[in-house]
Amino acid sequence: MLILGIETSCDDTACAVLNDTTVLASQLSSQDIIHSKYGGVVPELASRKHLQNVCPVVDGTLTEAGVSLDDIDLIAATRGPGLIGSLLVGYCYAKSLAFVKKKKFVGVDHMAGHILSVFLENRQPKFPFVSLIVSGGTSSLFLAKSYNSFELLGQTRDDAAGEAYDKVAKLLGLPYPGGPHIAKRATTGNARAITFPRAWLDKGSLDFSFSGLKTAVLNYKNKNCELSQENIADICASFQDAVQEVLVEKAVSACRQHGVDTLCIGGGVSANLCLRERFKSRCKQEGLHFFCPPPQYSTDNGAMIALAGLHTFHDIGVTGFDEDVYSRSSLGF
Ligand code: KG4
Repeated sequence: MLILGIETSCDDTACAVLNDTTVLASQLSSQDIIHSKYGGVVPELASRKHLQNVCPVVDGTLTEAGVSLDDIDLIAATRGPGLIGSLLVGYCYAKSLAFVKKKKFVGVDHMAGHILSVFLENRQPKFPFVSLIVSGGTSSLFLAKSYNSFELLGQTRDDAAGEAYDKVAKLLGLPYPGGPHIAKRATTGNARAITFPRAWLDKGSLDFSFSGLKTAVLNYKNKNCELSQENIADICASFQDAVQEVLVEKAVSACRQHGVDTLCIGGGVSANLCLRERFKSRCKQEGLHFFCPPPQYSTDNGAMIALAGLHTFHDIGVTGFDEDVYSRSSLGF
């Protein structure tokens, strides 16, 4: 089955063509340059840019895959969660294509896409597994029981991990999106230079909180007005250490609490090489199997939407054209 996947939930216009579970082509048009001067995504600008990008990105992906729209069997598009204006562009475009070309259509949950992105790698996990999804919009732990059954175990009570990376980067004068810039600076910094707080919350809690950490970085910066490049590298390394320790320990704890021996990660922050290495070594220590998606499918992409669309179609069926987008996930937040 040939599947066309379209993703426009935030600021990336992404598309992919899959032949069942094999990626034939995957393209993405980033809006980072547009939003970087504001230090974050401006929703109105994002949806306008999606309008300009969606046709060329879809056409380019079909061409790269060597197929035409007529060859496609199923069209999948992100239905939510995300920015409503952005979602509407990709979702309505996908529905129109499906309607005009008489194709099967499915609306896909963006979080399901991130959870299933580990199946875009050759080495794949077995259900059930715990999935930590860490992106600009969420930090959530799920128990994945099958391709279409996910139980929310914990989530952020305030800022998402990626949001904390982006906000800390902004206050250190680093470009948007901040995650990769903090990660790069952290490689030359000392993670033990500054002790930033770790929010463990109630005993056994699988929820996250990163707003206190962000404030601690702001307070540190305000107390030390003249920051050298070396100071900035130390702040980045110490901040990253605090975020990652909590992510790793809570994800491992979720496996223990639910008697699961497999741990997966996904979402933009999971592209972080240091985080991947930490998970690998901690999981080895704990006897857990660890899986992560290829880095290009950690951040938002069309391939995970096409893959989740395939499983939604098989297990649940098509989505009616009268169904709309949503800003909050049907997976419980
Ligand atoms: O999943 P994603 O592409 O978009 C959504 O938020 O849905 O994630 C983007 C987030 C941004 O906050 C970005 O700063 C963060 O992922 N990110 C990273 C890295 N690459 C992207 N955070 C830490 N380290 C990275 N290497």
